[in-house]
Amino acid sequence: MRISSILGTAMVLGMAGCSAPQVKPEAAADTGPTSFPSSYTDWVRLNQVPLMVEGSRSARNLYANPTALSREGANAPFPLGSILVKEERTLVVDAQGQARPGDIFRVSVMFKVGQGQTSGWAFKAFDPATRREMPRDKVDPDGCYFCHADVASQDYVFTRVGR
Ligand code: HEC
Repeated sequence: MRISSILGTAMVLGMAGCSAPQVKPEAAADTGPTSFPSSYTDWVRLNQVPLMVEGSRSARNLYANPTALSREGANAPFPLGSILVKEERTLVVDAQGQARPGDIFRVSVMFKVGQGQTSGWAFKAFDPATRREMPRDKVDPDGCYFCHADVASQDYVFTRVGR
């Protein structure tokens, strides 16, 4: 079970703003509520056009499930069961030098599980072809948390979600 090893190393660095109760991370099994969210493209997309920041190597679409959207307000903590998706696509540059989104190479997901050592969120990256979690030598889930910790005051979410 991958999640327990993620949580083990993440804790060593002790992030500020860790407020979630820390009980039984093993309850968040891969087969349970943190498996690949197959219906995410039916959810609300948070961005109008694919996010393609100059210099970045991907185009991104963000999705939120209904539970995440039911958040009390823009600064409220996300309710248990919230799921946010960052669908990451390659960038294809055409003959005119215009970049457009290509194939999906990774589906990065945040699951609000309310426990564990990454402030109540489980961070996972899935291979879109197999829908299985990507191996740690390809993507390091600890890195997810450390980058998202920049927005700990927004419950670790960069994008505005909810009312
Ligand atoms: C270097 C910083 C960085 C790393 C590493 C990173 N993210 Fe993000 N993430 C962002 C930023 C910035 C956004 C805002 C949208 C965008 O520009 O893509 C974002 C957006 C998201 C979102 C949509 C919700 C939000 O916060 O806006 C999810 C879900 C997500 N990331 C999951 C992950 C997962 C899972 C990993 C690890 C596999 C990961 N991220 C690694 C910076 C990072």
